[in-house]
Amino acid sequence: MHAVGRELRVPGRRVLELGTGSGALAVHAARQGARVTAVDISHRAVLCARLNAALHRQRVTVRHGDLSSVARGRYDVVISNPPYVPAPAALPPRRGKARAWDGGLDGRVVVDRVCATAATVMGPGGMLLMVHSAMCGVDATLDALHGLGLDAQVIDRELVPFGPVMRSRLLWLRDQGLMDDEQQDKEELVVFRARRC
Ligand SMILES: C[S@@+](CC[C@H](N)C(=O)[O-])C[C@H]1O[C@@H](n2cnc3c(N)ncnc32)[C@H](O)[C@@H]1O
Repeated sequence: MHAVGRELRVPGRRVLELGTGSGALAVHAARQGARVTAVDISHRAVLCARLNAALHRQRVTVRHGDLSSVARGRYDVVISNPPYVPAPAALPPRRGKARAWDGGLDGRVVVDRVCATAATVMGPGGMLLMVHSAMCGVDATLDALHGLGLDAQVIDRELVPFGPVMRSRLLWLRDQGLMDDEQQDKEELVVFRARRC
C-alpha cells in the first residue's frame, strides 16, 4: 500500500492490478488519480472489488479472468500481490479459497507468471510493483525480472508474523528446507520494483 502510494505520484497513470482480491490496492491507486483496471480469477473477488470501488466512489474497471486475459493491454504501472505460499501441490488449485494464497511447491507459479505478464503489458518507462514472501525467493524474482529485460530491485522489506496458512504448514515448510529456524514465527515480505529500461 505504501509503495503504491509513493510510486503513483503522477495522476492519470494507467494502472493494472493482477489478482485484485478485495480491490483494496486498486481503490487506493484510483484515489491517487490513476486509471485502474483490475483482474482476478475469482468471481467472488471480482464482485468484492466492484463493491469496494463503488462504496469508495472510485472508478475501477474490474475484469474476471486469468492473468493471461490481459496480455494485450498497455499500462504505465502493474501492481500485484500474487499467491506465493509454498504448498504441497505442484500447481495452484483451480478453484476454492486456497487459490488466493497457494503458489505451487516453491510458491513461484503465479509469481513467475506475473513477472512475464507485466513484461508484456508495460509500455516504455512502465513499472511493476510486486510483493511476495522472501520464502519463495528474492534472487529468483530478481533473476526472472532481469531475464525479461527489466531493471529490477527490492524497494521495501518488512517482517510480519506468520498468518494462519503459513502456521498450518510449518512442519511441511521445515521439511522442504524453506525455513531454517524451528522457532521462526515471522516471514519477510519483500516489495520489488521493475522498470522497462
Ligand atoms: C494474495 S491475494 C491478493 C489480493 C489483493 N490484491 C491484496 O493485496 O490483498 C491473490 C489474488 O490473486 C487471485 N489470483 C490467483 N491466481 C490468479 C490468476 N491465475 N489470475 C488472476 N488472478 C489470480 C486470487 O483470486 C486472489 O484474489
